[in-house]
Amino acid sequence: MEKPVIQIESLTKVYSLDSHRRVDAVKGISFSVKQGEIFGLLGPNGAGKTTTIGMLTTRVRVTSGDGFIAGISIRDEVAVKRLIAVVPQQNNLDRSLTVRENLIFHAKYFGVPKQEREQKADELLEMMGLKQRQDDYVRAFSGGMAQRLMIARSLMHEPKILFLDEATTGLDPQSRRLLWDKVNELNAGGQTIFLTTHYMDEADELCHCIAIMDHGKILAMDTPGNLKKMVPGGNRIELELKDVSDALIDGLQKLDRAGEVNRRDEPDKVVLSIHGDQTMMAGIMRVAQQAQADVLGVKLHQVTLEDLFIHLTGRRLRD
Ligand SMILES: Nc1ncnc2c1ncn2[C@@H]1O[C@H](COP(=O)(O)OP(=O)(O)O)[C@@H](O)[C@H]1O
Ligand SMILES: [Mg+2]
Repeated sequence: MEKPVIQIESLTKVYSLDSHRRVDAVKGISFSVKQGEIFGLLGPNGAGKTTTIGMLTTRVRVTSGDGFIAGISIRDEVAVKRLIAVVPQQNNLDRSLTVRENLIFHAKYFGVPKQEREQKADELLEMMGLKQRQDDYVRAFSGGMAQRLMIARSLMHEPKILFLDEATTGLDPQSRRLLWDKVNELNAGGQTIFLTTHYMDEADELCHCIAIMDHGKILAMDTPGNLKKMVPGGNRIELELKDVSDALIDGLQKLDRAGEVNRRDEPDKVVLSIHGDQTMMAGIMRVAQQAQADVLGVKLHQVTLEDLFIHLTGRRLRD
């Protein structure tokens, strides 16, 4: 993971609806993606994720700024197309072809020699768990299978970068999980992956680096761990009690990194909130025991990317 394989400089897209109405979909974004990375663009609907992928994959015309794929400008459509593969949001498999034919035809189009494409098809069908279905037509395919086939097809010409646009939207939890496994497997084999998602758990789990996008701008970009550190307060543990004594508060304040124990009174319990993570659990219970506190429950609240999004925008990520 070293040299940038994607570099974007002030990339901008304005869609003109008519002579006086325009949509500023992407507002001069700049960032780079390293080779071998799983990079995620995370943001709500309408943030500009698909438009960004569209420009990087030459489907959408750039309004201003530039982007480079392995050093080649995205304005050089023909050269860039050879280096990339895109799995779009919508299923665009050829329904008149079988599973295997979908792969072979794609490879033919990219000029992959016969023996190589047959071998590559075997390999990818196996990997994506579609070998048994290779002679079926894709009409009856579930969303999960269609996504796996679209990924297999996109990899037939061995792209340098794989672009996945909302690959798991609409999938059931099991198919989603399976697709995550496949993405990780591909990346372990060296594949650079650029994905978009509006699921914060997906970005958190899969990506080495995440750019948070909203209203055409990048609000923050870093590793999931560093992004979550940006949330004020951070992780906390909540101790639910029948009653609270001064001895307990004193003891907990000594454990708390910020020395700040927050108290919240609820109908039949008192909740004390302490900054920290699971490593402090044992210490908290020891203090509670020493203070002879009546503990009703302990909850660990881990910061999520959703918390960061709310912190940055004042809104929730999901609509
Ligand atoms: N072809 C288009 N013509 C006009 N406006 C568009 C077009 N495609 C997208 N938009 C608008 O651009 C903005 C960003 O859309 P999009 O890139 O699809 O966001 P996302 O993928 O994050 O949901 C939205 O306001 C959307 O309505
Ligand atoms: Mg989109």
